[in-house]
Amino acid sequence: MATKTLRDLAPAELQGRRALVRVDFNVPLDDAGRVSDDTRITAALPTITTLLDAGARVVLLAHFGRPKGAPEAKYSLAPVATRLRELLPRPVHFLAETVGATAVAATQALAPGEVLLLENTRFLAGEEKNDDALARQLAELGDVYVNDAFGAAHRAHASTAGVAQYCRPAVAGLLMEKELAYLGNALAAPARPFVAILGGSKISGKIDVVEALLPKVDHLLIGGAMACTFFRAMGLETGSSLVEPDRLDMARDLLARAGDRLVLPVDATIAPAMDAGAQATAVARDAIPAGQAMFDIGPASVARYRALVESARTVLWNGPMGVFEKPPFDAGTRAVAAAMAVATGRGATTIIGGGDSAAAVAEAGLEAQMSHVSTGGGASLEFLEGKVLPGVAALDAA
Ligand code: 3PG
Repeated sequence: MATKTLRDLAPAELQGRRALVRVDFNVPLDDAGRVSDDTRITAALPTITTLLDAGARVVLLAHFGRPKGAPEAKYSLAPVATRLRELLPRPVHFLAETVGATAVAATQALAPGEVLLLENTRFLAGEEKNDDALARQLAELGDVYVNDAFGAAHRAHASTAGVAQYCRPAVAGLLMEKELAYLGNALAAPARPFVAILGGSKISGKIDVVEALLPKVDHLLIGGAMACTFFRAMGLETGSSLVEPDRLDMARDLLARAGDRLVLPVDATIAPAMDAGAQATAVARDAIPAGQAMFDIGPASVARYRALVESARTVLWNGPMGVFEKPPFDAGTRAVAAAMAVATGRGATTIIGGGDSAAAVAEAGLEAQMSHVSTGGGASLEFLEGKVLPGVAALDAA
């Protein structure tokens, strides 16, 4: 059943009321303690401004880093409040508490059109345990619950899941709605050809998504070191490349079942070590010598992947093709990003599944040329695996 969203609420449900909004403000800080990438904050602004324009009083809940259920100064959300003030031309208050009498009083003192960001939910021992008493305390902070934290929706925590049962209506925010629509439509009704690209170092971390996507896609392109586990399963020499020996049977089984749909690199960019980029060469996948490792897909694979991506009508990408932080091993990853931009221009729906691929697209300056760049790494992977996200399951059904 579809999830109820902010757009399903009547104006009277928002006017003058306290909207308790769970956002994902888990953003990186630079050495000076300033937010160095505000993508996730910017992505939550449509929901926040929609609520403010409707006359709501906005109370924001967020986690930051991984403190262990107790306050730690380096995980305070104060720097995030500073950045939010720069981005949002409305009164933004910050309180260094999350629940309790002072926090409740601060929410009640808010005027319509004002924002209050509360301190890191993970400073509370009950947050990650989805503690029921904490969920009730959190619910006292608002009259309406809006979950816009897609990036944290795979966590069954008090502020992402438990609170929703005590604060009704409980609806998805606009970012959450957009994420679910793009990822959900790609899986349920993709325009074809539908091409998925999966990369990263380990097949073990991606096996569930490979299994979930294989029956749905026209082509599943594999990149990154995980390709080497397939190469070894095919009986090829992989030199000193990263291989997961305990996954060889699984890889063999997949190769036998997938047929042409599973597309592996035909060549590899290799070097004696990751820091030896100057010695990088390209070889066919059956010519990786002992003492050398694959650090990127090779140029012939790039050409093949580019052709498949550029002629697709739906493209979904999760995981880099190589060690993209270290040129020249960024070539495959950059080529996939560029091919997706071309596909978008030709009318395809192009979706970046968060994490490293989102970072690579941002680095290449191609974010605006993708249909959708997910703000959730782990969350989008779990969604693509077909898992129910606890943060979504807890919301009202429309
Ligand atoms: C993320 O950064 O992927 C989300 O904010 C979730 O954070 P977590 O992995 O610490 O739960």
